[in-house]
Amino acid sequence: MPASPAFDVAALRAQFPLLRTHPGLIYLDNAATTHKPEVVLDAERRFYETSNANVHRSAHRLAHAATEAFEGARRTVARFLNAARADEIVFTRGATEAINLVAHSWGRSQMRPGDEIILTTLEHHANIVPWQLLAAERGLTLRVVGLLPDGSLDLAQYHELLGPRTRLLAVTALSNAIGTRPPLGELIAAAHAHGARVLVDAAQAIAHEPLDVQALEADFLVFSAHKVFGPTGIGALWARAELLADMPPWQAGGEMIERVSFAGTTYQAPPYRFEAGTPPLAQAVGLAAALDWLSGQDRAALAAHEAELCRALERGLAELPGVRIVGTAPGKGPLVSLAFDHAHPFDVAQFLDARDIATRVGSHCAQPLMEALHLSGTLRLSLCAYNTRAEIDAVLAALADTLELLR
Ligand SMILES: Cc1ncc(COP(=O)(O)O)c(C=O)c1O
Repeated sequence: MPASPAFDVAALRAQFPLLRTHPGLIYLDNAATTHKPEVVLDAERRFYETSNANVHRSAHRLAHAATEAFEGARRTVARFLNAARADEIVFTRGATEAINLVAHSWGRSQMRPGDEIILTTLEHHANIVPWQLLAAERGLTLRVVGLLPDGSLDLAQYHELLGPRTRLLAVTALSNAIGTRPPLGELIAAAHAHGARVLVDAAQAIAHEPLDVQALEADFLVFSAHKVFGPTGIGALWARAELLADMPPWQAGGEMIERVSFAGTTYQAPPYRFEAGTPPLAQAVGLAAALDWLSGQDRAALAAHEAELCRALERGLAELPGVRIVGTAPGKGPLVSLAFDHAHPFDVAQFLDARDIATRVGSHCAQPLMEALHLSGTLRLSLCAYNTRAEIDAVLAALADTLELLR
């Protein structure tokens, strides 16, 4: 699908102050974090200039304005994900904390020794280690879906792993390391048919595709604001209201309580039960601005542009000797992971950095995946809608020169 003629990448780029202050930079590390449009920076600044106060507590108008801004941000996140209710959104520090919340609260209260959790080889450490800790504590078994040679999931194996003891599938919507997009509809339907719950790690998918939690029919979904044009320090958990209602607190302090007494303490209803302490207020406002900004874009045009850049990159890479694309699953997201016959990815990344091309090298917080691929790491080029065709051409030329030098 060609990019919409209405899509103007220069106009999009002009909205990102960092790209203006680094005009020569070719930023291909978008899977690590995206840059922020001006409206996000403005929203945070405006919050501090006009509405700064602590939320939910103080009896003055400024506090009321801050609370309104914060709860408005929750409604924006709910709208963005098409959640049925705003109180299904719990603010967290990011995707990692949201997964830990589910493991600590839902997992500890619901899982019994012998229960099983299915993960996939594609997962980021954030969607592995919390389940390992829970498994060790509760006597659970982790089962792992392997990969086919192109980096897609071995679905036959997944269906075999599902059984009466399966309680949870925790799966990424888009692999940060090799770009695979697992078939969530099929995975979720099969898990539910076995009575298991599903957690979707949308940390990468959130910036590249519309997500509709009601259509998806998952049970939990997590993401971080900083990977979707928003600020660091905040993210969210979406969970079905009926699941949240039965989940016990996991962190304790102010905000999450109803009444405290030395004789016994009672807790707020969700989502506040899971938001101990002063929440990230300005960051919530910045996140809402980012999601509103993205919703205001022609998302199909952005996705078509990213896909077109990715195809151009892959076509050019195919011409370079000694380069192998790791992960070629159909429908993969806009990122390319590379292994080299005659060069170490770290050396290649250093050469590229000297030309102001920002990439990521290593295991991408997916060491089990690298182990399965028999690689110590890859060089990752991760794209975003503000990247340009000229940048792709420049990267291909720089890679050709670098590999020639390193031969
Ligand atoms: C797929 C995936 N899951 C989870 C995370 C963790 O996100 P954060 O570090 O923002 O909590 C990342 C970050 O790279 C990711 O790519």
